[in-house]
Amino acid sequence: MKAIVYDRFGPPEVLEPRALPDPGPAPGHARVAVHAAAVNPKDVLLRKGKLRWLARAPFPRVPGYDVAGVLLDDAEGIAAGTPVYGMIQAHSGGACAQVASVPFDELAPVPAGLSMVEAASLPLVGLTALQALRDELGVEPGQRVLLNGASGGVGTVAVQIAKALGAEVIAVCSARNAPLVRDLGADVVLDYQRDDLKQTTGLDHVFDIYGTLPYDRARRLLGSKGRYCTAIPSPPAILRGLLRRAGVHPAALVVVRSRRKDLAQLSEWVERGALRPVVDRVLPLEEASAAHAYLETRRARGKVVLEVTPPN
Ligand SMILES: NC(=O)c1ccc[n+]([C@@H]2O[C@H](COP(=O)([O-])OP(=O)(O)OC[C@H]3O[C@@H](n4cnc5c(N)ncnc54)[C@H](OP(=O)(O)O)[C@@H]3O)[C@@H](O)[C@H]2O)c1
Repeated sequence: MKAIVYDRFGPPEVLEPRALPDPGPAPGHARVAVHAAAVNPKDVLLRKGKLRWLARAPFPRVPGYDVAGVLLDDAEGIAAGTPVYGMIQAHSGGACAQVASVPFDELAPVPAGLSMVEAASLPLVGLTALQALRDELGVEPGQRVLLNGASGGVGTVAVQIAKALGAEVIAVCSARNAPLVRDLGADVVLDYQRDDLKQTTGLDHVFDIYGTLPYDRARRLLGSKGRYCTAIPSPPAILRGLLRRAGVHPAALVVVRSRRKDLAQLSEWVERGALRPVVDRVLPLEEASAAHAYLETRRARGKVVLEVTPPN
């Protein structure tokens, strides 16, 4: 099969297409004929060698966590031949290939109405937003939620999920992306270059997606029972996240987990029109290095997705 590989840490140019053996059958895993794989900041960090202590897979490595394709094996309740999507939890990745091996529980049928590209764009960011807003923050109908970084991969989905949970959404993005974010359902849109966030107070929740609103700044915007979550695992955020789990600090850190039942929730929202993927760019698998370079600009609106030509 054809895959994207890298043999050393480095810039986007270390990524190159190469022929590799197909992954064999593995217990608890199903093979997927990949049609599309999305690119995430996690791919960029791993490629640069930033998370070496977490990801210890040997070289050559195949990047990619978000996958959509057709099941080649039965996967515990999903029959071979079904179009599926999901997020590979293991740091070893493997979605940027014609065939990927994925644990059963990390796959769900593609929701009706989504293309393979759209389906691949959703799992990692959708699960992150869902688990932050529902599980870490406990967003309830009528509450006011501020989302910092509302126009990127996680943000475009978080706006819609917060609305689906019944919240009032205050979205922070640049002026150029305000129309997109408003169209996704945000009630108020603030420009991070012009608006003073300090004027927004008494919030029930702040979700810092982009990383420029750490807890010490955000807490001034929160009401007395307000809750905070960040997506950025900085050392203080990791410490606070641990204290939060021990029940002694209100600030959470979301650490995305791949779960079929959470994918089913995303699918349900997609099928009833409450959630739609936002895809910025689609490139062929062979142009993975260009996709990484674009994502690294931190200017993507929604997702960057690689389209994979299945083997003959
Ligand atoms: N902890 C977890 O489990 C987890 C899971 C997923 C992601 N993450 C992390 O979450 C972060 C966001 O991920 P992502 O996929 O959404 O990234 P992304 O798609 O690369 O985000 C790009 C967006 O960020 C916006 N942006 C740039 N500068 C900004 C600023 N100063 N303030 C607010 N927005 C700004 C850009 O909009 P403009 O061009 O308009 O500025 C662009 O739309 C990443 O650091 C990622 O590693 C963590």
